[in-house]
Amino acid sequence: MLINFEGIDGCGKSTQIHLLKQYLEEQGRRVQVYREPGGTPIAEEIRSILLDSKSNVSAISELLLFSAARAQLVQEKIIPALDNGTTVILDRFYDSTTAYQGYGRSVLTIDEISVLNKMASCGLVPEFTFYLRISQILALQRRLKCAQDRMEMAGKEFYSRVLEGYESIIKEHPRFIVLDGAQSIESIAKEIRRHLKSK
Ligand code: ADP
Ligand code: TYD
Repeated sequence: MLINFEGIDGCGKSTQIHLLKQYLEEQGRRVQVYREPGGTPIAEEIRSILLDSKSNVSAISELLLFSAARAQLVQEKIIPALDNGTTVILDRFYDSTTAYQGYGRSVLTIDEISVLNKMASCGLVPEFTFYLRISQILALQRRLKCAQDRMEMAGKEFYSRVLEGYESIIKEHPRFIVLDGAQSIESIAKEIRRHLKSK
């Protein structure tokens, strides 16, 4: 089973992924968590280029680098894990590329981005996509203590386009389960478990 978590930076993905992994392991499942970009030595190197606030990355190379990191992770880790029955939980997948590079940067059309996404992910489609919906203000408050990476320095208008982008993507893909990210950590975790049980 392949599950991804989506939402703007600070929406609570990592927190929920950690709890879900624990819960699934208690049920006797094998679980692997990967964050994007990252998860393999090459993808981690690409991550440091992409998130370094000193990198001067053009919009099109940004898109291609996120996709390259994904292609590496999919081939090297995700496909082998799924093949041996491991549940894979992803902290972001290609929906992030659609939202950030497609809607946020408007670097190519959404159809063109979809072609690239399919290529980089070898056609994998997650069974569940949990979207943690949260306002930009709350996300910013939660991230106040952290240093900003290059993506987070992109500004308020950029994040508004990303948020609107996610809303469009959600409407088009029934695999999305939208959760209120402003709720308490425990009540969001409960809702996630409820959705998984009901399938
Ligand atoms: P993400 O992985 O989406 O960037 P995190 O899970 O790292 O987000 O959460 C960002 C910050 O917000 C962390 O300090 C975390 O403890 C806190 N946080 C996460 N979920 C909630 C929540 N539901 N309510 C309050 N704070 C939260
Ligand atoms: P990360 O520190 O993992 O942020 P978060 O905790 O919010 O997931 O940084 C990943 C950043 O890269 C985040 O700002 C979203 C962005 N991103 C894209 O722009 N496109 C992508 O395809 C992916 C996977 C991430």
